[in-house]
Amino acid sequence: MPASLVQIQQIFDKKLEGKKVKIRGWVYRKREIKYTIFLLIRDSTGVIQCTVKKDSSAWEMADKVTIESSVILSGMVKSDKRAPGGYEIAVDQLTIVGLAETFPITKDYSEDFLRDVRHLWLRSRRMTLIMRVRSEVLKFIHDFFRRRGYVEVSPPMFISSACEGGATLFGLKYFDKELYLTQSAQLHLEALIYSLEKVYCVAPSFRAEKSRTIRHLAEFWHVEAEAAFTTMEDMMKLEEDLVAYICHQTAKKCKKELEILNTNIEKLLKVKTPFPRITYNEAIERLQNKGFKIEWGEDLGYDEEKALAEDFGHPFFIYAYPRKIKAFYCKTYRDNPELVMSEDMLVPRIGEIITGGAREDNKEELIKRLKEFGLRQEDYEWYIDLRRYGTVPHAGFGLGVERLLAWILDLENVIDAVPFPRTIRRYYP
Ligand code: 4AD
Ligand code: MG
Repeated sequence: MPASLVQIQQIFDKKLEGKKVKIRGWVYRKREIKYTIFLLIRDSTGVIQCTVKKDSSAWEMADKVTIESSVILSGMVKSDKRAPGGYEIAVDQLTIVGLAETFPITKDYSEDFLRDVRHLWLRSRRMTLIMRVRSEVLKFIHDFFRRRGYVEVSPPMFISSACEGGATLFGLKYFDKELYLTQSAQLHLEALIYSLEKVYCVAPSFRAEKSRTIRHLAEFWHVEAEAAFTTMEDMMKLEEDLVAYICHQTAKKCKKELEILNTNIEKLLKVKTPFPRITYNEAIERLQNKGFKIEWGEDLGYDEEKALAEDFGHPFFIYAYPRKIKAFYCKTYRDNPELVMSEDMLVPRIGEIITGGAREDNKEELIKRLKEFGLRQEDYEWYIDLRRYGTVPHAGFGLGVERLLAWILDLENVIDAVPFPRTIRRYYP
């Protein structure tokens, strides 16, 4: 009977003991002990031990095969307590598809080296698991928004005017014009709520971040939402529901991955809505009490955010910020125009993962704010049009996917949450 082609995980799940199977994959480990070659073979689903005896017709190939070579092999599944997972394949046929040269990742496991060879390190168990969880988290995000009646939209990447301030804009030549890479889809999402009312997108954003931190990338994936007839408070509810949903689904559906990655699953299960909310004023008071030298009106840095997050131990909000430290589009409190209806969600260790809030919906106020920020009105005429023609109170937010993943998976750096990180120093591979 010909061996049937299976994926490695099926051998464990279906307990295929005594069956003849064929698998395709890559050589993960190889060692020879007394007339037996032990190969650990991996495919996208798992790893299984395969044994080749000296008298087998597969011996010659097994002897020749190197680490990370791609192979197709077949043999009988046997149960063996000494094999990882309890099963192994006694190989009788082995074909080398691509014989690998000496694989460079052997002894040097320094972070820098592994990032230089990220295109190869992506084959590691750790990166494979992280990429699987990332894929699931993106699915949960789409599921959540669809269920809430949000329409997915596709914003442009080339833009002509800044959303989040000039300092982190990437400029580029666009035919004979100077344009920028988008920092946030927000302004364009705002245009779409006048027809679709509730919209969201998952797209890359680009920031020329010069600082080297554990939470800044030059290219990150941005989940952004915008809704008409909505207040900042409504948005905060949506954000906490989204984050709680992602945490619970991940804990449930990615349990195996989280366990192998040694992630604190409890922390995810314990996430409960509503999240605590403190005002910026209260945040400053707390920080001053902790001995931070920070005055009202100053922006919170990473150290301040981390210190505040320690008090809570789980996600929480800070809202009602000074006008001057938030973007031009933020709506001011009408009874206290020094403050804007802007909010951040913070998590332990990483700090801010979301910024959101209500948008200035009054044309005159918006024009005043543009001036205040030294921005040219003519660059934003289309955006002002949105207040000219049927303006509505509206709000939205942006969530950084890599920051969220870094928190969920207890990663030391957002760099490991994305397959090919882009930072000031890294653009290769
Ligand atoms: O706080 P930010 O700059 O807010 C905005 O861009 C708004 N226009 C979003 C909106 O309301 N639609 O960015 C939002 C989030 C941050 O909280 C952070 O999680 C992530 O995007 N982020 C970054 N992640 C990785 N590397 C960077 N350089 C990031 N900059 C922002
Ligand atoms: Mg922010």
